[in-house]
Amino acid sequence: MNKSIIEYETVELDDNDNSVIIIDQTRLPGKTEIIRLHTAQEIWDAIYLLKVRGAPAIGVAAAMGIYILAKEIAGQQIEKVDFDSFYEKFKAQKDYLNSARPTAVNLSWALNRMEQVCIKAHEEGKAVSEIIEILGREAREIKEEDIRVCKAIGENGLSLVKPGDGILTHCNAGQLATCKYGTATAPIYLGQERGYHFRVFADETRPLLQGARLTAYELQSAGVDVTLICDNMSAMVMKNGWVNAVFVGCDRVAANGDTANKIGTSVVAAVAKRYGVPFYVCAPMSTIDFNTPTGTEIEIEQRPAEEVTQMWYKEPMAPEGIKVFNPAFDVTDNELITAIVTEHGIARAPFKESLEKMRTNAK
Ligand code: MRU
Repeated sequence: MNKSIIEYETVELDDNDNSVIIIDQTRLPGKTEIIRLHTAQEIWDAIYLLKVRGAPAIGVAAAMGIYILAKEIAGQQIEKVDFDSFYEKFKAQKDYLNSARPTAVNLSWALNRMEQVCIKAHEEGKAVSEIIEILGREAREIKEEDIRVCKAIGENGLSLVKPGDGILTHCNAGQLATCKYGTATAPIYLGQERGYHFRVFADETRPLLQGARLTAYELQSAGVDVTLICDNMSAMVMKNGWVNAVFVGCDRVAANGDTANKIGTSVVAAVAKRYGVPFYVCAPMSTIDFNTPTGTEIEIEQRPAEEVTQMWYKEPMAPEGIKVFNPAFDVTDNELITAIVTEHGIARAPFKESLEKMRTNAK
């Protein structure tokens, strides 16, 4: 029998082959292709081209990626390698991977965490060979942590809804964007296990269709009652009273709660406010960037025009040479957000204070 998509690992490490294994998400749902990434270029391309995507998943892929690259850098003569020359190359590869996508903070968060581990181990007098082992453990821990965090977000999110509720989600903040459960889908999966019978609406999410290709696919595979809608239909389903809550993921939450997520999220938030539907952002603490005061300072990734004009179509669907604006993310103002659901609890306005308190309590 065919394996369901949610039985696959989103990101995996193969220490023997020195590769990061991912599902090529650009081929879903038509083809489940598992690919192995060995080189810095392959890892960078996989992240940039969205073969692996979703803030937590790219963090995990980058952590595993920098680990296998660290092994390459140390090479065969690992016992003889001196730290300074190792670190110089490690840092260059880290900066290179970090340049793949600018908005999702988990990418730099995971890479910085790996770098800090490396520096600390050196300061403790560890040899490069030991540092490599420590990096391997840290990369695996980042993945395991992601699974625990998503589950905790799921439990907290589930407390905000009741059996039979209608839930709308945008983009894919699902298992495919993390290592298990997803963030915005975690309450849905936990509810599914407990017989909540949610009715889920998945926005298709133009232009890259993460909602149609990924969210609708993974939820359907898990047996969830999911209905696919075009992005411009969310107002109608909310006005009809079919949606009791919106759950979305995020790529970077500023210290004041302004939230960058897939383009179109802020429209959903505005519509939800109009129809009195609570709008919840599901955010691992690793996605909250306390160094970015407000959404204005979040760098928004711009992507190629072809994603809008011709990708997915048999022939171009816009006039040749047309000007195109294709930001991958938008920022939802904090006043449109009912609550931010993290692994440590549920933060409400004023977010600057509630998120800071959550951070302090989590230490
Ligand atoms: O461009 P993508 O597909 O990486 O965008 C993904 C999103 O916007 C997700 O909602 C976000 O990363 C949260 S994933 C748990």
